[in-house]
Amino acid sequence: MLKLEYVSVTRGKTATLHDVSLTLAPAKTLAVVGESGAGKSTLLAAVLGLVRLSRGSVTWMDDAVHRCHPALVMQEPRAAFNPALSLRRSVGEPLKARKLTLDKARLERLCRGLELPPDLLDRRPSEVSIGQAQRVGILRALIAAPALVLFDEPLSALDAVTQKHTARLISELQVEEKFAALIVTHDLGYAAAHSDEIAVLRSGRIEEIATAEAFIERPQTDYGRTLRDAAFSLGALEGAA
Ligand SMILES: Nc1ncnc2c1ncn2[C@@H]1O[C@H](COP(=O)(O)OP(=O)(O)OP(=O)(O)O)[C@@H](O)[C@H]1O
Ligand SMILES: [Mg+2]
Repeated sequence: MLKLEYVSVTRGKTATLHDVSLTLAPAKTLAVVGESGAGKSTLLAAVLGLVRLSRGSVTWMDDAVHRCHPALVMQEPRAAFNPALSLRRSVGEPLKARKLTLDKARLERLCRGLELPPDLLDRRPSEVSIGQAQRVGILRALIAAPALVLFDEPLSALDAVTQKHTARLISELQVEEKFAALIVTHDLGYAAAHSDEIAVLRSGRIEEIATAEAFIERPQTDYGRTLRDAAFSLGALEGAA
């Protein structure tokens, strides 16, 4: 289980995370929703050990998180890759870093699951669509079979149809691969449809945490209600609850 206890991060003079406590069980999905600047990316950086905590702790199975080799899917699909390398080389990087050998059958299975033709990996990042690049980003995240995968706005660079498709593929792969998913997003419709629990992050603090159904049905805070109602009025929650 991923456990954050009283995680606080101070950047410059201002605190960007205040006493954030969260848990995420293996194979489950927790969506952290919040507006731009709420601290979502900082939260992921804290989980990955990329920023110093001024207080609190982050553990996976009561051990340091890096020991479980968490993977990150980034917001900007093309920027996530070295433009000079073939996608195949980039996808192999997590294996190389851990001195693991490529399981070809696994690569083929993941490519099928992500609807990526195998020879697409011989191209460079600039030679594929954004949607394809994001699915290769997911492939790279999953190649070494991590128990924990972090998603930083995984759909926000994609058009609406591609968003739906990619969200479905992520959910289907999670059923097969059984990784725990921590998804940060401003998209409550996505969070409601594809997560077990929703945590609302506002100005670096967790405002409320609930199951996705309970949150959509009955937010506990004014801010939660504002987010929910805004998503309803945009039609983003149709079919989510
Ligand atoms: N390297 C940094 N140095 C100082 N302050 C930073 C740094 N990175 C982020 N911040 C500040 O921390 C706060 C949280 O930023 P963060 O990037 O975590 O937000 P976010 O929720 O991911 O936003 P977005 O949805 O726009 O990606 C913001 O006020 C931001 O200005
Ligand atoms: Mg961010």
